[in-house]
Amino acid sequence: MKITDIISKSEKPAIYEKGNSFMWTDPHISKQLLQVHLNPDIDLASRKKSTIEKTAKWILENRDNNKNLKILDLGCGPGLYTEIFANNRHRVTGIDISKNSIDHAIKSAKKKGLRIDYQNSNYLDIDLGQEKYDLVVLIYADLGVLLPLEREKLLAKIFKALNKGGVFIFDVLNDKGFKEKLSPKTWESSKVGFWKETPYLALSESFLYEKEKVILSQHTIIDESENIDIYRFWTHFFSHSDISEMLKQQNFKDIEFREDILPESDMWNGENVIFVKCIK
Ligand SMILES: C[S@@+](CC[C@H](N)C(=O)[O-])C[C@H]1O[C@@H](n2cnc3c(N)ncnc32)[C@H](O)[C@@H]1O
Repeated sequence: MKITDIISKSEKPAIYEKGNSFMWTDPHISKQLLQVHLNPDIDLASRKKSTIEKTAKWILENRDNNKNLKILDLGCGPGLYTEIFANNRHRVTGIDISKNSIDHAIKSAKKKGLRIDYQNSNYLDIDLGQEKYDLVVLIYADLGVLLPLEREKLLAKIFKALNKGGVFIFDVLNDKGFKEKLSPKTWESSKVGFWKETPYLALSESFLYEKEKVILSQHTIIDESENIDIYRFWTHFFSHSDISEMLKQQNFKDIEFREDILPESDMWNGENVIFVKCIK
């Protein structure tokens, strides 16, 4: 392998240039991710159990407790929110691209006697239906990692899928001091680890695209056969007015911002995360 190949693959790419690998569906990585989602004490993949409970309580509050809502959880992971919604007698659908997470969610719901409709799909590709849900949620800053066109397409589908007066709730990262959120370059060599079950070298770096308010986290994984997998995560940061503009373009109204939903945490809290509630 030529060292210049590694150097050129590690250079700052043009904005939104795709990597060649996708983390959520990789069979080895998605097994590691499931364990991370299910760890109740850490804020990675899913938030801490206590934070999830507080968030779900807020999501459901102010709704008439006697009314069974039809709820759609996009990117539901292993079902940590869907189970709380179903336990509160709502009719819940969860969609996730990770087969591992959905298989776990189906088994868990069966064990707990909960009826939840789970679908293993890419929410960017499927039709979410028309006027089917009272509430749609997309939790853990997932809207902000989509590319702008994907985001627009998804928002339009969510709007269509909501009943009139239905609510869409999501969270994104705010743009306060976003330029300081670059991570330092790191490397890892491992016989078996998060990225692969065979030996690999991982080179991780982040790049700032200031005008677009984007940070790219890039992980270049080189295996023993000299294959190079490049994982790219484009994280967008938003102000209140960025969010209002994006939602108004899709005809959402009554936009409300909350920065007091997440408890203090060592990862993300109200300083970094904006919860948004809006209405069709
Ligand atoms: C950061 S996790 C959040 C999981 C869950 N919302 C939570 O907070 O516990 C993002 C989830 O979205 C899923 N996901 C990512 N892209 C997706 C897509 N295009 N379609 C469906 N699910 C997707 C991943 O598999 C993962 O479970």
